[in-house]
Amino acid sequence: MGVDEPTDATLRQLVGLVDYDAAADPFPVLGWDAVVWIVGNATLFAHYLESAFGMRLVAYSGPETGNRDHKSFVMRSGGACFVVTGAVDPDSPLVAHHDRHGDGVADIALQVPDVDKCVDRARAQGATILVEPHDSTDDFGTVRSAAIATYGDTRHTLVDRSRYAGPYLPGFVARTSGYQPRADAPPRLFQAIDHVVGNVELGRMDEWVEFYRRVMGFTNLAEFVGDDIATEYSALMSKVVANGNHRVKFPLNEPALGRKRSQIDEYLEFYRGPGVQHIALATGDILATVDALRREGVEFLATPAAYYDDPELRARIGRVRVPIEDLRSRGILVDRDEDGYLLQIFCRPLTDRPTVFFELIERHGSLGFGKGNFKALFQAIEREQDARGNL
Ligand SMILES: [Fe+2]
Repeated sequence: MGVDEPTDATLRQLVGLVDYDAAADPFPVLGWDAVVWIVGNATLFAHYLESAFGMRLVAYSGPETGNRDHKSFVMRSGGACFVVTGAVDPDSPLVAHHDRHGDGVADIALQVPDVDKCVDRARAQGATILVEPHDSTDDFGTVRSAAIATYGDTRHTLVDRSRYAGPYLPGFVARTSGYQPRADAPPRLFQAIDHVVGNVELGRMDEWVEFYRRVMGFTNLAEFVGDDIATEYSALMSKVVANGNHRVKFPLNEPALGRKRSQIDEYLEFYRGPGVQHIALATGDILATVDALRREGVEFLATPAAYYDDPELRARIGRVRVPIEDLRSRGILVDRDEDGYLLQIFCRPLTDRPTVFFELIERHGSLGFGKGNFKALFQAIEREQDARGNL
């Protein structure tokens, strides 16, 4: 989908793509299709993704195209695709979703080569099939798709677009906007989705890890427990599952018992249940990306001042591609493991509720998720949680 999709060589560096044998996979997944949001005002949210995050409007569905229920804006940046949807009809079922959850991610759609094979597997393993496999056709060809349920009210639409050449899906028309990026803006601020994190209820993380293993043939990538990501006040448990080629990575968090309320508990309360906590966006130049985002007023979690001075942390960081001062001035975090290092930074929540947010990540060999940063990061999150009166 789209000419901007990074090459496999680029994806190896950006998101840790690996080779694998799809023929032996009972539920082969090629990669991300789209992250579908339900929001209170898609018109404005789409504009924000365009003006602040450098995404480009490529397709649209709404009353003008015969869809009287809602507006959907299809936004792209490199290989990443977000679809932002908001109700037009006050009786739309989207209204109830938004009333309950606020702005958030309703669907993590995945590209698969064989929708029916995946749904057969999912059914045999006891998954909930929300939409049976079916064809949708227009002048650009045919898309076959289905949908299965995952945590909370979140779903995975499974999409085979191998016989389709349209801008997104049947029912959408190609659309660009009149937005003019600044003359010196980078061509794009991120190239791909790296991972999408789900928050689930206390005690249910292993259930969802097992769901991705049993139903979708995902494998465990890494495990963070206990002290790794505990602070004095709150803690969480996290495990990561990935599809065969590691293009799709799902860290799954559950709250752990701390002295005070976990940030995951805060999310679960305000999202009214499990859902997508953050989306990590892969960039080849996180410094330029952060500078561009800050200029548009995007806010990031403050990094504790001590972070860059801590001798233990400093020693572990070792040599990275830029001076530490360039990271410190932007609040960019560094983590290192046996495979290399990564640079990352977390945005403050995107929405009015303290729920979903973005991460920016630049990988240099490391296939981790910033485990070494979790403690420093959570202390920063907790300061903000405290300021909201929710700690
Ligand atoms: Fe992350």
